[in-house]
This record gives sequence, C-alpha cells and structure tokens, in this order.
Amino acid sequence: METLLFLFPGDRPSFGAEEVRALAEVYGLELEPVVSHQRFLIARSRSWLADIVLQRAALVRVVGIGVQIVPRLPFPSTLQQLDFDALMGDSRTYYLEGVRVDRKQTADTRLMTVLQELGKQILFQTGKRVSAARPDCRLFVVISKQWVVVARKKGEIRAKFFKQRCPKYRKFRHPAAMDPITNRWMVNVARVKKGDLLLDPFCGTGGVLIEAALLGVKPLGVDLDPRMVRGSIENLKMYGLHAEVVRGDARYLPVRSADGVATDPPYGRHASTWGATLRELLRKLFTQLRGVLRHRGYAVVAAPQELPVRVLAAEADLEYVWEGLQYVHGGLTRRFVILRNM
Ligand SMILES: C[S@@+](CC[C@H](N)C(=O)[O-])C[C@H]1O[C@@H](n2cnc3c(N)ncnc32)[C@H](O)[C@@H]1O
Repeated sequence: METLLFLFPGDRPSFGAEEVRALAEVYGLELEPVVSHQRFLIARSRSWLADIVLQRAALVRVVGIGVQIVPRLPFPSTLQQLDFDALMGDSRTYYLEGVRVDRKQTADTRLMTVLQELGKQILFQTGKRVSAARPDCRLFVVISKQWVVVARKKGEIRAKFFKQRCPKYRKFRHPAAMDPITNRWMVNVARVKKGDLLLDPFCGTGGVLIEAALLGVKPLGVDLDPRMVRGSIENLKMYGLHAEVVRGDARYLPVRSADGVATDPPYGRHASTWGATLRELLRKLFTQLRGVLRHRGYAVVAAPQELPVRVLAAEADLEYVWEGLQYVHGGLTRRFVILRNM
C-alpha cells in the first residue's frame, strides 16, 4: 500500500473524488482515505491506482505518490518534520510546484512563501538543488488552511488532452452535445472496464460512446432521432472508433443487457423530448434498467436540478449511490445521480 495524493479541479471537486472511488472499485483496489478535503484526497491504496487514474480520469488534475503531510502551523518550523530524503530518494535535482486550495490568503500561506521555505528546508536536509529544465524528481505541494502536503508528482491530467474531442470539432454537431471531460467522467463513474458493455439510451452526438470506446469499453447507443444515430456513428468513425448505435425509444429499450449506463437525457434548450416529459422518460427508463442493467451494475444520469431523480429511482427499486451538481448557465444547473441495480 502507498499513500497517494489526488488533486481535483476547482469546479466540481466532489466529482473527482467520486471518480477516484469508482476507479478503485472497478479494479478491485482498496481505498482508505487519510485526509479528505474538498479539493484533494489523500488515501492509502496500491500504487497501481495512480497509473489507472492518470490513464482514465477526467476530473483529477494531479496525482502524487509517497505523500507526506504536516500541519500548516506553526509555520515555517512545521516543515522541518518533512523527510525529504525519503521523498526524493537518490535523485540529485528537483523541481517544486504547487497549489493553495483554501481561499483566505495570509502571508505564510502564499504559495511563493511556502515554496521558498520548502526550498530552504530541502537544501538544509539534503543539499539537493533545483533544476527547472531537467529535474530528477518533481515535487508537488498542496497548501490548505490546515495542512501542507508534499508528494512526488506522478503525473497530471490536462484539460488540453480532451480538447481535440470537443463537440465543435466533431463532424456531426448539435448544440445539445456535452463536453468530453464530463462524458469521460460519466463513463468512469458507471464503473465499466475494458470489454464491458456501456449503454447510452439518449446518445445524441455520441460523446459518451466516444469516451467509452477510447477505454476499450463496448459502447451501445440508442436515440429516437435518426439524424443522431447516423451522426454519432460518423463521429465515432472520425476517431477510428466503432459503436453499435440503434434507433429506438429509451422508454422501450431495444437492448437486453448492459454492464453500465451513462446518459444525458433531453431537457435543455436544444434537446427535444418528442412530446414526452423528462419525468416520464426517466420513470420508464429506470423501470427497464432493473432488468437490463447487470446485478450491482451502475447507471449515471444527468438531469436538471429540479427533477427528483432520486425519487424516480427509488420507485423503480434502483439504489441511490451519489449525486453532484454542475452549474451550466443562469437557467440550468445539472444534477448527476449515480444509481445501482440491486
Ligand atoms: C441531451 S441530448 C444527448 C446529448 C448527448 N449527451 C451528446 O453529447 O450529444 C438528448 C438526446 O435524447 C434523444 N431522445 C429524446 N427522446 C428520446 C427517447 N424517447 N428515446 C431515445 N432518445 C431520445 C434526443 O434525440 C437527443 O439526441
């Protein structure tokens, strides 16, 4: 077991923590939280989880290993408790970067002040020098109101990585399309792995299907609009990917089974419900998921904040697992709800 650090982006931080929990579960890895903060999680797990998160996650920014944590106060003497020989091993040079995660700025929590003090401590303890160009070891520091956390940086996930798959670059475009970061997160929290079958019963332009296919998950899309069916197949082709996409009604699913479900049903300004209410669409979908979704399989559903998804799920005997909110614009805050088939 190793102590790992996961830093989450400032918007929707609780989504990142759920994503890490989901990935640990998918690969059967224990996850023992040591410190849970809104913006970061320090947890004990197998070091393999760090690699999995870096390969798959969307809403995690930095992953660190060999984590050490000290109280922030009394500053700077508290930094003497950090063991830099253990942190840096036999590397001769290092690079230090970090982030301050709690709002309130006092002189001793300014990022530069902490980095400078850490630099002095490293020099004093180890004699190692900074190299900005080619460091042997990269250290990442998180400063919160309560803690100073230092880890060896294992890697980072840049939003840039997802940019090339933004809806505006797709061959078939539609204003209701969701961004690839959210789509990837949905695939991950649906807890599917390579070879599993993931169903999106309102697949639209195929964003969820694309992210699933990139992970080796078999995507299965359903949409009532034949333009969407053709368009999502075209979009997958653009990236050299394939999905089974069929025209159908999510209220009468043309599908026998699925290992996971991730979906963004119609509710915004741009997506048509074809005369039905969203409540009716979800009620009928959930009733069928009892039979379609594998035992203990997960479904993640997006909906406007006002819709009581949790109540509809309970009526269909689906277990409520987690929910989080995403502000989209003045008129729309989305609620993502994760459910499990019992
Ligand atoms: C919000 S869009 C999905 C957007 C998708 N996440 C994307 O990134 O492109 C909702 C989709 O549900 C489809 N739809 C509406 N009613 C449906 C139904 N009863 N069964 C299946 N699909 C339906 C619409 O045609 C639309 O493509």
